[in-house]
Amino acid sequence: MRKSYSGTLSNYLDWRTELLEGKNVNLRVMEKEDLPLFAEWVNKPEFFGEYNPLRQTSRTETEKDFDKSTLELTGFIIEKKDGSKIGFICHFILVHPAGKLLEIGYSLVPNERGKGYCTEAVRIMVDYLFLSRDTMRIQACTDTRNVASQKVLEKAGFKKEGTMRKYLFLRGELRDACLYSILREEWKEPKTLTKTASR
Ligand SMILES: CC(C)(COP(=O)(O)OP(=O)(O)OC[C@H]1O[C@@H](n2cnc3c(N)ncnc32)[C@H](O)[C@@H]1OP(=O)(O)O)[C@@H](O)C(=O)NCCC(=O)NCCS
Repeated sequence: MRKSYSGTLSNYLDWRTELLEGKNVNLRVMEKEDLPLFAEWVNKPEFFGEYNPLRQTSRTETEKDFDKSTLELTGFIIEKKDGSKIGFICHFILVHPAGKLLEIGYSLVPNERGKGYCTEAVRIMVDYLFLSRDTMRIQACTDTRNVASQKVLEKAGFKKEGTMRKYLFLRGELRDACLYSILREEWKEPKTLTKTASR
């Protein structure tokens, strides 16, 4: 029988939740007003870095994707406590013959990396998803060379499941990727999501 968390946080997690608060960063659901900034980030190759597909997109295309995501994707802006926008984290559904898989992805502007912000954002997202979704696992995958991303996942409690060979098409070649996951029973209870609020 699954243990359900009955703390006060779960009472706040409903459709009105727009802001997930941590100690140093908050996650805020992306709105249409964020799309110009998001398109600007996406079009700079350094934003997604060398271990993610190169992507150039127009603002119009970004808006279309936002309106009609086939992946049931929800994006969040990672904000510092002073409100500055420093990155993006999302959750999405991958449809698999055995069911639906919940996956996350993230990226930070280069000058805010290495300060622990992404690790905290991932921890908040994990707390939020296990509190709000009836899922046993959350997964993430990353190029085998992307050490920073693997460290983020490990620090947030994910375990490496294995290597998916030739899984990503990057810079003209197929690359291997590591698959990571965290199970509900490993998570146990929220640790980083301190508060949720709507505004
Ligand atoms: C991956 C990424 C999100 C990490 O964000 P971040 O805020 O810098 O992560 P954190 O500061 O929370 O932790 C990064 C860890 O990786 C380490 N790290 C960073 N770059 C590294 C590198 N090139 N080699 C080894 N370790 C590295 C940091 O020292 C830190 O570890 P520590 O806490 O033990 O010192 C960021 O580098 C990024 O946006 N990269 C481009 C996009 C991307 O690759 N996204 C992931 C797709 S799967």
